[in-house]
Amino acid sequence: MDYGLKSRIASILKPNNGRGVMLAVDHGYFLGPTEKLEVPKRTISPIVRYCDSLMVTRGVVRSSVDPNFPVPIVLRVSGGASIIGEDLSNEEITTSIKDAIRINATAVTMSIFVGAKYEHKSLVGLGHLVNEAEEYGLPVLAVTAVGKELAKRDARYLSLSCRIAAEFGAHMVKTYYCDDFQKVVNSCPVPIIVAGGPKLPERDALALTYNSIKAGAAGVDMGRNIWQSQHPVAMIRAVRAIVHSNYNLDQAYKLFQQLAKGQPIPQNRGNFNPNQNQNRPQQNRPNPQGNRQNQNRNQQRRPQQNRPNNQNRPNQKPGQPNQSKPNQKPNQGKPQNQNRPQNKPQQKPNQTKPAQQTKPAQQPKPAQQPKPAQQPKPAQQPKPAAQPATPAPAAPKPQ
Ligand code: R5P
Repeated sequence: MDYGLKSRIASILKPNNGRGVMLAVDHGYFLGPTEKLEVPKRTISPIVRYCDSLMVTRGVVRSSVDPNFPVPIVLRVSGGASIIGEDLSNEEITTSIKDAIRINATAVTMSIFVGAKYEHKSLVGLGHLVNEAEEYGLPVLAVTAVGKELAKRDARYLSLSCRIAAEFGAHMVKTYYCDDFQKVVNSCPVPIIVAGGPKLPERDALALTYNSIKAGAAGVDMGRNIWQSQHPVAMIRAVRAIVHSNYNLDQAYKLFQQLAKGQPIPQNRGNFNPNQNQNRPQQNRPNPQGNRQNQNRNQQRRPQQNRPNNQNRPNQKPGQPNQSKPNQKPNQGKPQNQNRPQNKPQQKPNQTKPAQQTKPAQQPKPAQQPKPAQQPKPAQQPKPAAQPATPAPAAPKPQ
C-alpha cells in the first residue's frame, strides 16, 4: 500500500490500536437541517476536539469547520436524493476528487445501496471512486446505507453489503451494528466502523459502541447519538473512552453521567482527547497494552499499526484549549512524540493520582531529545474473540 494511503488511514484509525472515533455530521446532505444540526458550526465546535476524524460534506467543512484547527476530514462525495424524494438510493458522486484534495480531505466517502433500486449505480460508482481516489492516495470509506429500510439491518444483509464494499476496493466500511455482528466483521476483510443510527438513550448508545468494539469493529462513526444528546461533550468522551481506553459499559456510562453533571471525573489517560486532531490538545495516549486484547482482527489487517504515532503531527499552536497548561502531566507540553514508542507499560488499574488543579503553575519543560524510534512489531497472531479489558478508570486528570 502506498505511503499516502497508509498514512491517511493511520490518521483515522490510530496506529497504536487500529481504532478511531469518527464524528458524523454529514446528515444535511439528504436530511437538511435535522434536529440539533440546524447550525452546523454550533453543533461541531464543542465536540470536534474529541474525535479522530470528521465525516462531513464540502459545504459544511467550508462554512463550519475551522481550518486553523484541522481535523482529518472524511469527505462525503455522494448525494443526489433527499428524504422527501422518490428513492434515497438514487445517489451518485457529486464532489470531485480535485475538490477533495483542495479541501485537504483525508478520505472520501460515499453510500452504497445493496439490494435497492439503484444498487447498480451506487456499486459502479464505488468502483469508480476507488479507481480515482487511489490515484491520489486517498482512502475510500464505503457506507452501507439502508435508506428508510432500517429493518434491513441484520447480519445477513450487512455481511453482504460490507463484503461487496470491500470487494470493490473500499479501504474501510461503515455499517450498522446488529445481532451476530461478529459475523459481519469476520467476513469483511477491511476495518469496519459502526454508525450510531437514530437517537437512543445514552446508555443504549454506549452499549452499541461497546458491543461493536467487542465484536471487532475498528471504531464508530457516530452522529445523532452524540450531538442529539443533551450532553454531547459528555457523550463523545464516553464513546471515546470505550473505543480508545477499553472502558466497559458501566464505566463509560458512569463517566457520561459524571461529565454531564459537571462532576470531577477520574482521570483516564486514554479518555482525554487521545490522538487529538493533529494540533489539538496534547494527547494522553490510550494504553496499547490494554487495547491489544481486542484488536486481533485489526492487527491482522494493518500490520503497521504498532509504529510510532504522530509522525506528521504538527506542533500545537498556542491558545488552544488545554495546551501548555501549567498543570500538565509530564508528557504534556513536550514537543510532539514523533519517535516515541507506542508500547508504554500498562497503566495500573485504579491508579488514582491526585487531581492536579491545585498545583502551582509550572513552566513548560525544555524540549527533550526524541527517543530512538522503535522497530515496528510484527503483526500479532489472531487471538480468540476479544473482550475489551475493563480497567478501572485510572488516575484523575484535570478536565
Ligand atoms: C448517513 O447516511 C450518514 O452518513 C451518517 O453519517 C451516518 O448515518 C452516521 O450517523 P448516525 O450515527 O447519526 O447514524
